[in-house]
Amino acid sequence: MLTLIAALAEDRVIGSASGGIPWDLPRDRAHFRARTEGRWLLVGRRTYAEMEGWFGDRTPIILTKQPDFRPRHPAHRVVASPAAALDLARANGVGELIVCGGAEVYAATLPLAGCLVLTRIGLHVDIPDPVRFPDFESSGEWRLSHTETWPAADGGPAARCEIHARKPQGGMAKSSLARGPLPG
Ligand SMILES: NC(=O)c1ccc[n+]([C@@H]2O[C@H](COP(=O)([O-])OP(=O)(O)OC[C@H]3O[C@@H](n4cnc5c(N)ncnc54)[C@H](OP(=O)(O)O)[C@@H]3O)[C@@H](O)[C@H]2O)c1
Repeated sequence: MLTLIAALAEDRVIGSASGGIPWDLPRDRAHFRARTEGRWLLVGRRTYAEMEGWFGDRTPIILTKQPDFRPRHPAHRVVASPAAALDLARANGVGELIVCGGAEVYAATLPLAGCLVLTRIGLHVDIPDPVRFPDFESSGEWRLSHTETWPAADGGPAARCEIHARKPQGGMAKSSLARGPLPG
């Protein structure tokens, strides 16, 4: 199954079309590291470039339409579609692939996802070229299954970690990321 993990400011802003995330929230970075440790991740080609050198024991699959794209590390994998990423994960015995963005990849994979792990940050981001997490709430397809509030700290904004599960459509597997409690 596919699980999307993302951090969203107000109005579902997740970053910028010119690259980068316009906030620094150590609590969310720790959460992201813990939730992705040792896992297979799906990332867009632009987000992969931003995260280069970060992956460690994680296995990124890079989504790109460029047939000649070569990742920097031989263990990093490349696919041309979300379906191919799922096939590759299954072929390697990986039951859950974690989608780490960016905006284009979240939009392409939301219809296939079973779980959303979202950090909602109480921050209005005023940038000229915002990119957003897709609108998942208006479809009525998702149920909030867990929430945890992170108070403002070290001058940073308060945030809330939310886990949304797709409403049952006949036996959808449950994400291992949906098991609480969340790590501190
Ligand atoms: N807040 C968060 O949680 C979070 C997480 C991750 C990223 N971000 C931010 O998001 C922004 C980047 O997002 P983005 O939308 O510009 O880029 P992106 O989604 O990381 O990458 C886009 C690229 O992925 C490939 N791609 C996307 N959909 C595809 C599909 N269906 N099939 C094949 N290839 C596909 C294409 O690569 P090719 O052009 O090579 O074909 C496309 O140009 C940055 O600001 C980043 O910091 C935020």
